[in-house]
Amino acid sequence: ANENIPKDEGLDNSLTLMKEGYLFIKNRMDRYHTDIFETHLMGQKVICMTGVEAAKIFYDPERFQRKGAAPNRIQQTLFGANAIQTMDGEAHLHRKQQFMSLMTRPHQKELANMVVQEFEQSIHKWELAEQVNLFEESQVILCRVACNWAGIPIQEAEVTDRAKDFISMIYSFGDIGPEHWEGRRARNRVEDWIQQVIEDVRSDQLKPNQDYPLYAWANFKDIDGKRLDSKMAAIELINVIRPIVAIATYITFGALALRDYPQYQEKLQSRDPEELEMFAQEVRRFYPFGPFLAARVKKDFEWNNCQFEEGTLVLLDVFGLHNDPNVWEKPSEFRPERFQDREENFYDLIPQGGGDPNKGHRCPGEGITLEIMKASIDFLVNRVDYEIPAQDLSYSLSQMPTLPKSGFIINRVKQK
Ligand code: HEM
Repeated sequence: ANENIPKDEGLDNSLTLMKEGYLFIKNRMDRYHTDIFETHLMGQKVICMTGVEAAKIFYDPERFQRKGAAPNRIQQTLFGANAIQTMDGEAHLHRKQQFMSLMTRPHQKELANMVVQEFEQSIHKWELAEQVNLFEESQVILCRVACNWAGIPIQEAEVTDRAKDFISMIYSFGDIGPEHWEGRRARNRVEDWIQQVIEDVRSDQLKPNQDYPLYAWANFKDIDGKRLDSKMAAIELINVIRPIVAIATYITFGALALRDYPQYQEKLQSRDPEELEMFAQEVRRFYPFGPFLAARVKKDFEWNNCQFEEGTLVLLDVFGLHNDPNVWEKPSEFRPERFQDREENFYDLIPQGGGDPNKGHRCPGEGITLEIMKASIDFLVNRVDYEIPAQDLSYSLSQMPTLPKSGFIINRVKQK
């Protein structure tokens, strides 16, 4: 038993977590004046922790493992069953290298250029439209670009529905009821589609370019030297495409930041790459996306007066860390300048995980995400004029993941 850390009341707080959403952990940290506490979720004891030191511990592979950490409902929607997110040790690092090798600087730039080209080509259509939903337009563009880049054939007529499926896989993981089941159906549809594409490559009916993800995953060999079965290969290829489509969320939050903090429009008009970088980083800190990360204690240890028993589920509070005044000065203010001359730190800005992506589970797609965000923000500032009609742009902190309710509608679009 752990006598030294605060314990949350209640036999099980799963419903409270659903209700309080992103704030669940932070509310309790504030209430108990702590950076660590114990609670019960999904019928088990769970330790919640926050802060830079907690993040460092969380990414120590001697202390934590991912095996058994992701609930089935998340594997059935967001991740895919038995995918990279659930692996540990050498087998994980071997598969991780494959992801890292696909996300080089040239590939990041190439993807960002493809996205800009799509945005440019949309201007005329947007000028003629009554109104444009930026979130929806972005997801379609990102889906088309991600598939084209990866080497996956996609018909123009299917792009919108496929994009919706990817978004549904992302936005259903926190839901209960029909939305959750829609997310599962979306994953099944996408897995069937991509598995067939992998099989077409293996039977030489499709000959994709070797430097790109479709070819890479169709031929990838696991650490045991065996080729992944076509379903597993599809799941990992989807782990490249789906998160690219997810960048639509950050493009939408970027547009919201431009509206709410218009003083930065002027700075971004200079097209100074540093201004753009700082703005994109602050969007990733300020707006909520992934609420927390989960791992299991690998073997017993003590840290911060707390006994971590083997097998215990531990949550690292990402949202809380980004809103912690001990880590970020005045965290409730949107201030890109905070990133000026910032020392590189693996553990304070962790919207896509912490630590070294080559050594642990941190997202391999941060370069891609930043390049696409910067290109999109630059496009919105410097390539088009638009108006933002009255709409509900608020985003709920009890819905995970969240999004401005209207999806960000613009009208009277004009090329600049
Ligand atoms: C892992 C967030 C974009 C591929 C992760 C993790 C987070 C995350 C929180 C888990 C870190 C951990 O478990 O410690 C995001 C967000 C994105 C994004 C918010 C922006 C929308 C991307 C992109 C790609 C990608 C563009 C690929 C093209 C992956 C993969 C993993 C991962 C494969 C699993 C890594 C592992 O388990 O070793 N991401 N990501 N993500 N992400 Fe991303």
